Amino acid sequence: MQKKSPSHLTDLRDWIRAVDEMGELRVVEGADWKLEIGAISELNCRLKPTPALLFDKIKDYPAGYRVLTSTTASRRRLLLTLGMSTDLDDRAFTAALLGKPNHWEQQSVQFPPTLVSEGPVLENVLESNIDLELFPVPIWHAEDGGRFIGTGSAVITSDPETGWINVGAYRMMTLGGSNASLAITKGKHGRQHYEKWWAREGRCPILASLGHDPLFLILGGLEVPTGISEYNYGGAILGAPIPVIREEITGLPMPAFAEIVLAGWIRPEHEAKEGPFGEATGYFSATPGPVPVLEVERVYHRNDPILLGAPTAKPPHDFSYMRSVLKSAMIYDALVKAGIPDVRGVWAPESAAGRMIIIVSIKQRYCGHSRQAGYIASQCQTGAYLNRYVIVVDEDIDPANMDEVMWAVATRSDPATDIDIMRKGWSGPIDPLVRDRRNAYNSRAIIDACRPFEWIDEFPRVAEADPAYLRQIQAKWPAIFDGRGANLSSIREEGDKFEQPHQQPSPGKNSIME
Ligand SMILES: Cc1cc2nc3c(=O)[nH]c(=O)nc-3n(C[C@H](O)[C@H](O)[C@H](O)COP(=O)(O)O)c2cc1C
Repeated sequence: MQKKSPSHLTDLRDWIRAVDEMGELRVVEGADWKLEIGAISELNCRLKPTPALLFDKIKDYPAGYRVLTSTTASRRRLLLTLGMSTDLDDRAFTAALLGKPNHWEQQSVQFPPTLVSEGPVLENVLESNIDLELFPVPIWHAEDGGRFIGTGSAVITSDPETGWINVGAYRMMTLGGSNASLAITKGKHGRQHYEKWWAREGRCPILASLGHDPLFLILGGLEVPTGISEYNYGGAILGAPIPVIREEITGLPMPAFAEIVLAGWIRPEHEAKEGPFGEATGYFSATPGPVPVLEVERVYHRNDPILLGAPTAKPPHDFSYMRSVLKSAMIYDALVKAGIPDVRGVWAPESAAGRMIIIVSIKQRYCGHSRQAGYIASQCQTGAYLNRYVIVVDEDIDPANMDEVMWAVATRSDPATDIDIMRKGWSGPIDPLVRDRRNAYNSRAIIDACRPFEWIDEFPRVAEADPAYLRQIQAKWPAIFDGRGANLSSIREEGDKFEQPHQQPSPGKNSIME
């Protein structure tokens, strides 16, 4: 069982050591920052098992200036990053996550970050002649509009009214010299912060951490509840406060163990075109458009810095597994928090970017229960952005098993009465169906694939033998079923819970197509 070292819970170097000991690290030497790092990482995420990749001796760069990708693309590494036992299997992991997001939220107040005066991030401080391409910033995809330095980024902002510190993963592209674009979609917390700063002060202070323990990728990339700092939330996940250093120019807290941090300002009058970029939905969707330019005044970096890459592409990609698992747990907890009874499981499939399709399994208790669950899943804070379909199924359906889900849709939903359409939902420029990035709406379908509650007792019985009898048969005739146990796991007792099992890909699945 691997655990993070208790002293440096957020030190990427400790994380890399632990992953190496687990046998899940590959060092790649000699790759070109131009396309090769991106293509190797993309291919790596389509193959199982999926090691973390540490690129060193990158073309045109000194040895030691490294790029790390695929960090959270395996169950054991995700468990390690969350400070959980790496021995848990898929089912135990997803079961263990239920209730955790609500717990982390409640505990957040107990874990404010610890202010320290020293940390490895201060090893090098640059103030003049800044060139952000001193780091081996990849061109990830052939059609990208530039070199994206911020993919696994953690952008730190504050609310000028309340002081609330937010950490968000927002993409950044180098623009030459000390400038980088910063693309934050409308409605995201970082955007709310900078709009307030602009209205009050005409500029907004920004820190961008570009290399760090992947915990910051998780924290920055998930919809942590409004008003709660990801620093506190991360402290609650680890059960220990995160050490931070107050950055001099902006006054914002930066992770003491960060690899690279940029400090500077964005102003309303300074914008530039950025993109396109291969995005999490699997397209180059966001047409190049003007976004704020981060004018970097200071760069902090460790010796031999490591840039954390989280390149997106058609799923599965760098963090699609992480998002799928954690988003499912967060939506489950949001439903529980909203008072929805008997939620049996939630799954946000990787193929739909862990957002666009949400499947909720419930044990129906009353008329309207299933629609209530569907609408809340679609509109709760963690589910609202970029969702398109919510499918609600009964408790006998495993939400992570698309064959079962489609069977329920085909046999239990009547298109004329069981598909509700909601218009003008919260979408964004990476939605391939959005043509005008200034007005990024989408519509939603809530597909109620539960048996009609008003005649549920008369609904035709499922044509499968009694599960208890099938189990007996399986035990009596092991030779017939040997080696096909996975299929037989679908034999279950009525009322069995499906707690977001993560499906093991079958051989060949997720592999690259010829
Ligand atoms: C690697 C990665 C890159 C992301 N890039 C962007 C981006 O460029 N712009 C954006 O608005 N959201 C992006 N997201 C999604 C946001 O990080 C996510 O919605 C998060 O909840 C934002 O933080 P907030 O809820 O505090 O605003 C990205 C997520 C990840 C994991």
